[in-house]
Amino acid sequence: MELQTRRMILRSFREEDVDTMAELFANPDFMRFSLGIHTERKKTLAFIEKVMGWDRAGIPSPFAVTLRGENTVMGYCGFLHHPEVPGEVEIGYRLNPKHWNRGLITEAARAVRDHAFADLKLPRVISLIHPENLPSRRVAEKNGMKVDNEITFRGFPTLVYAMNRELWLANRGAS
Ligand SMILES: CC(C)(COP(=O)(O)OP(=O)(O)OC[C@H]1O[C@@H](n2cnc3c(N)ncnc32)[C@H](O)[C@@H]1OP(=O)(O)O)[C@@H](O)C(=O)NCCC(=O)NCCS
Repeated sequence: MELQTRRMILRSFREEDVDTMAELFANPDFMRFSLGIHTERKKTLAFIEKVMGWDRAGIPSPFAVTLRGENTVMGYCGFLHHPEVPGEVEIGYRLNPKHWNRGLITEAARAVRDHAFADLKLPRVISLIHPENLPSRRVAEKNGMKVDNEITFRGFPTLVYAMNRELWLANRGAS
């Protein structure tokens, strides 16, 4: 499975991405607003294997984000599932800090959102964002998501940004 945007290809993860991802998971900026960095390669391998397993089972999953013409993974953007918020599908993202603030994740998250509604026919997508995570809130807002609720997620105050299918259909073509 692959999504194309103007500047990027969002593709399935492969086992050969493990070294690049291990470097990213060990980077505190890449891991901002998470439970902490991963320094063990086997944890990265477990992430990639989990995502590849979801792909095989047809479960919406995170995409590896790459620039067109370059195979190096810059991060991920795609679907996450959390037992703490049953019935919801999250659009989640993290990007190599050296590429921040070029509009890349806004572009990627928009393609993922459109894929959710146009192809997967999901009724609703959410993004779980710490109130102080202003760049992530901006990405959600630029893609038309609105705060729907505030919850405690993994011990942290968390805004539930959401968009439902009806709103997406009504605004289609507007962004
Ligand atoms: C969140 C993240 C993926 C955004 O990626 P990105 O490609 O840099 O995002 P974009 O460039 O598309 O958009 C970022 C927006 O935030 C704005 N922004 C950046 N820093 C900001 C700050 N300190 N305060 C307010 N806005 C800020 C940018 O100006 C931009 O908005 P604009 O287009 O209106 O100017 C990236 O910052 C990241 O990987 N952060 C660490 C991991 C993370 O927090 N993931 C999300 C968990 S919910």
